[in-house]
Amino acid sequence: MITTKEIRKKYIDFFESKGHAVISSASLIPDNDPTVLFTTAGMHPLVPYLMGEKHPAGTRLVDVQKCIRTGDIDEVGDKSHLTFFEMLGNWSLGDYFKKEAIEMSYEFLTGAEYLNIDPWKLAVTVFEGDDDAPFDNEAKETWLALGLPENRISSLPKKDNWWGPAGQTGPCGPDSEMFYWVGEEEFPPEGSNVATDEDNWMEIWNDVFMQYGKQTDGTFLALDQQNVDTGMGLERVVAVLNGYTDVYKVDSLYPLVELVEEISGKKYEEHTLSIRVIVDHLRAATMIMGDNLGVAPGNMDQGYVVRKLIRRAIRHGKKLGIEITFCTKLGEKVIDIFTDVYTEVEKNKDFVLKELQKEEEQFSKTLESGMKEFEKLLKGFQMAFEKTGNKITEISGKQAFKLYDTYGFPYEMTEELAKENHLTIDKKSFDEAFEKHQELSRKGAEQKFAGGLADHGEMSTKYHTATHLLHVALRRVLGEHVEQKGSNITGDRLRFDFSHPDKMTPEEIAEVEYLVNEAIARDYPMSFREMTVEEAKKQGAIGLFGDKYGEMVKVYTVGDPSGMPHGNPEEDTFSKEICGGPHVERTGVLGKFRIKKEESSSAGVRRIKGVLE
Ligand code: SER
Repeated sequence: MITTKEIRKKYIDFFESKGHAVISSASLIPDNDPTVLFTTAGMHPLVPYLMGEKHPAGTRLVDVQKCIRTGDIDEVGDKSHLTFFEMLGNWSLGDYFKKEAIEMSYEFLTGAEYLNIDPWKLAVTVFEGDDDAPFDNEAKETWLALGLPENRISSLPKKDNWWGPAGQTGPCGPDSEMFYWVGEEEFPPEGSNVATDEDNWMEIWNDVFMQYGKQTDGTFLALDQQNVDTGMGLERVVAVLNGYTDVYKVDSLYPLVELVEEISGKKYEEHTLSIRVIVDHLRAATMIMGDNLGVAPGNMDQGYVVRKLIRRAIRHGKKLGIEITFCTKLGEKVIDIFTDVYTEVEKNKDFVLKELQKEEEQFSKTLESGMKEFEKLLKGFQMAFEKTGNKITEISGKQAFKLYDTYGFPYEMTEELAKENHLTIDKKSFDEAFEKHQELSRKGAEQKFAGGLADHGEMSTKYHTATHLLHVALRRVLGEHVEQKGSNITGDRLRFDFSHPDKMTPEEIAEVEYLVNEAIARDYPMSFREMTVEEAKKQGAIGLFGDKYGEMVKVYTVGDPSGMPHGNPEEDTFSKEICGGPHVERTGVLGKFRIKKEESSSAGVRRIKGVLE
């Protein structure tokens, strides 16, 4: 058995030996990026550096990034898609390009001391070219030179071989994907490739050559800097190396499968779909809640996704006949599995388990009353059929909305139950009713999931700097226990979540506003310096810390960067915070800051919405 731990280590060691600096996984919840709910790829936190900003750790990086993809949440249950997964990545920021990237990939895949894959079991794809960019001949030539047979190389169009923020602006480019043979026979027949035999090849790695920037008008401009972004799905690689085509068999997932078998007394082979949904969803929910910027189940944004994941898992638990509460048991196991790699999950264990328990209790009640109501509905349909001879095959929007609104029954549940009973739902009229209630519409959430990356407009930059001022002001007024729990910026406002047990008093709010405005009036200069995480901690910088020893980070200072006490607040340092930027040059340009709202975000976390006027 080749373990997940071994592969993580081999990958990091290999790329370190090729001059890459190891960086920590970024948070699952993007910091200051309002257009996506989750980090879906290692690329998100690195966008400014792909666009040309200098990364403090250098031009060659390697990481293991936690990712969440919710785009196909309803399709989870097949053998290879996961909501939470780990992605191994190596990065060139204007350093090496196609040839070297592909050569390193090949060496890692086939090298005896690395993955030791038989090259005959590999197939690759390259970009075939279109009006925006030419056929990727360089990638193809490099594969050929490495010895890959020509008929194992497929040229595919943009929809397959291009990577970047979908439909949005930002860095992007052609990619070359690597696939492993997962067919019935031990070896692929001569001539089999991804284009002709898609189902028998599993994608394991993607080398993206980020050489273009997508413009707002949809055109592609060559970037000044040519980058490489690679992503290797860790669970998939571990699966194929062990001869599994089912990712749930790997050691970061199978103990969870066994636990569900034990709790339910049902076999994985016979109840594959439900067990996969439970395992996948509770693993993802635990990792989101256990993140540095973890969120509790709720009705908006990330909280809504967490709630949906837990609730779907519970419903599949009911399908398996599980009578007891079981979510915390799975949560504990997930934390056990990841505690060595992502130390934050252990730190947040109490929070995660408490929220899982609470959500499960609450939802079990909801489920019971909702199920009763759904059965009533079915009975009504049956009675109508007996009376009129007309079979009703559609649940009206009003009926679905009543289940949702009066009984708290999630729409997705109604949808699943409808499917099981061969009924459809009038989704359009449900949506109309739903939107009227000004809740987060499912559609809106989907748009966000699909969305790309935020632009760094002028106003967003100002709000970003204002957030640093606010963070310090809160710590001065409320105490040092205040820590950032989330931040979200648009061109119109900032939103800042922080740990604090009580509602702020009007006096506290006024004082925080005063301190922020005073810092603006002092027109402090902003500057940054690169240093190790340890040095940043020593200097008392606040913000999110990675846990890789010696990792280089960027620290932004408001005020005197030397940190020397001058005995005069006008000259002293106002704030030091770990952050990627960008920021304004002087605080004076921010205008006037006002707190519009202070409210609860979740247990022990407050939320401020603030504007610059
Ligand atoms: N961004 C690319 C992907 O997610 C490679 O890391 O596939």
